[in-house]
Amino acid sequence: MEITKDIRYIGVDDHDIDLFEGQYDVSENGMAYNSYVILGEKIAVADSVDGGFVDEWLGNLETVLDGRTPDYLVIHHMEPDHSAGIAAFMERYPQAQIVASMGAFRMMVNYFGTDFPERKMVVKEGDVLDLGGHSLTFVGAPNVHWPEVLFSYEATDKVLFSADGFGKFGANDIEDPEGWACEARRYYFGIVGKFGKFVQAVLKKAADLDIQVICPLHGPVLTENLGYYLDTYNTWSSYQPRTRASPLPTRASTAT
Ligand SMILES: [Fe+2]
Ligand SMILES: [Fe+2]
Repeated sequence: MEITKDIRYIGVDDHDIDLFEGQYDVSENGMAYNSYVILGEKIAVADSVDGGFVDEWLGNLETVLDGRTPDYLVIHHMEPDHSAGIAAFMERYPQAQIVASMGAFRMMVNYFGTDFPERKMVVKEGDVLDLGGHSLTFVGAPNVHWPEVLFSYEATDKVLFSADGFGKFGANDIEDPEGWACEARRYYFGIVGKFGKFVQAVLKKAADLDIQVICPLHGPVLTENLGYYLDTYNTWSSYQPRTRASPLPTRASTAT
């Protein structure tokens, strides 16, 4: 799927899952694990997918590559539903480098027995990965939802890669009749909600960026009316009510 001319979707839909993370019921609409390819003069793949879908993901990637080879695998989040394909990717594309935060590389050692020392590129807030025609500027997003998380911003097409941020429950091949907010709210408060102050911090950084597209790791790519999604996340992460209830009756007015 084309997001922009040079940015493509290569994620997968999971309709076999009943409980996301073993506790959130997604048996009706499933779950999506999103992944993206940025086709510059060099090619970056953003994140992998859940362990049951690595072959499907690599197949999607191969279709988009159309004979080219990727130069980088960028890791925004190391939770297994996004990182399970790392070892298979690194084996299939031995020229590729892996780009991630220091915290993510520490986790890789535990997951895969290696942090790919000969091929690793450690990045942090403000670092830029220049692909030629496209570039990714990294934005620190610790604890949205794990401590190693990075967002990144692609300046040419004005795309924010937001890791779990702005994600929702539900596969992407099913139209959610309730729209984005209902299952995005359940996802947010289940997965990220207790880290509100960290979400607030990254929203402040996002306010300085001209964002035209948000590419989360779950749920639909957001392309229109982005102020709505950013405002909604601001409300949720600051623990404000969406609409203010009527004032409670005073003691005097309730006394009889
Ligand atoms: Fe996560
Ligand atoms: Fe996730």
